Amino acid sequence: MKQEASSKAQNIFWVSLGKFSRTENPDPSRTDILSLMMAARDEEGQPMTDVELRDELITLLVAGHETTATTLAWAFYWIHRQPEIRDKLLQELDALGDKPDPMEILKLPYLDAVCKETLRIYPVAILAFQRQVKSPLEIMGYQFQPGTFLSPCIYLTHHREDLYPQPKQFKPERFLERQFSPYEYLPFGGGNRRCIGQAFALFEMKLVLATILSSWELALADEKPVKAVRRGLLMAPADGVRMVVKGKRTQKSRVLETV
Ligand code: HEM
Repeated sequence: MKQEASSKAQNIFWVSLGKFSRTENPDPSRTDILSLMMAARDEEGQPMTDVELRDELITLLVAGHETTATTLAWAFYWIHRQPEIRDKLLQELDALGDKPDPMEILKLPYLDAVCKETLRIYPVAILAFQRQVKSPLEIMGYQFQPGTFLSPCIYLTHHREDLYPQPKQFKPERFLERQFSPYEYLPFGGGNRRCIGQAFALFEMKLVLATILSSWELALADEKPVKAVRRGLLMAPADGVRMVVKGKRTQKSRVLETV
């Protein structure tokens, strides 16, 4: 029954791809992700097959969309719960002037710290994927035999009091004061199976936050704290984060806020 449903879903996917078929109507001027992937060639000059293209698109949608969107919802929540954090972030963003270069946004230290702290306090992926022990292994005095499955818990690591004093508090400054090792901070997992979308997700988060925060004045619709709940594999805000737009930020209001 499940298989039937999934093959039906695949057929719908192929039909909708077929309807707008790029293979039949190639357009070299297009710069969207699908066109770029269709234009890519491997070392032997071969393009991706249709199945490979479908897999890449599904990966982007399933692994890439909800994770980043949920983290952004958390980021807007934390930024607007503490006015001093929002003010500091706006000061940094406004200093770049109008129409800043995306690469400059990427390098902003406070924005970077805000994104990292968002991914620390409620890492959307609570656990990394399981690892299977291949040869006898000792970790902190515990012996693990081959065949044992280990589940690295990102959430518990990020809430260790010895690494992150007052771990329940949102404090971006931690990431300006010290650097954390990959064993201490791992929102994207670790080792050679860590998230392939890490750089892309961080870039996307920073651009979205910078664009929206510099243009719009927002506020949380509700004063009460938002609870984190498990949604499938992810940790997400229960009922989302509801926000209201209070107005557009103009050049003048930006200067006044800075003063
Ligand atoms: C804030 C956003 C994201 C977070 C927090 C996140 C987190 C993670 C985590 C924890 C893992 C498991 C890694 C491990 O077990 O060591 C993972 C795997 C993966 N992620 Fe992400 N991810 C994000 C965005 C993305 C994006 C944007 C993409 C694709 C464009 C992506 C694609 C993948 C893929 C393909 C894997 C499996 C890698 C493998 O098994 O080799 N992720 N991600």
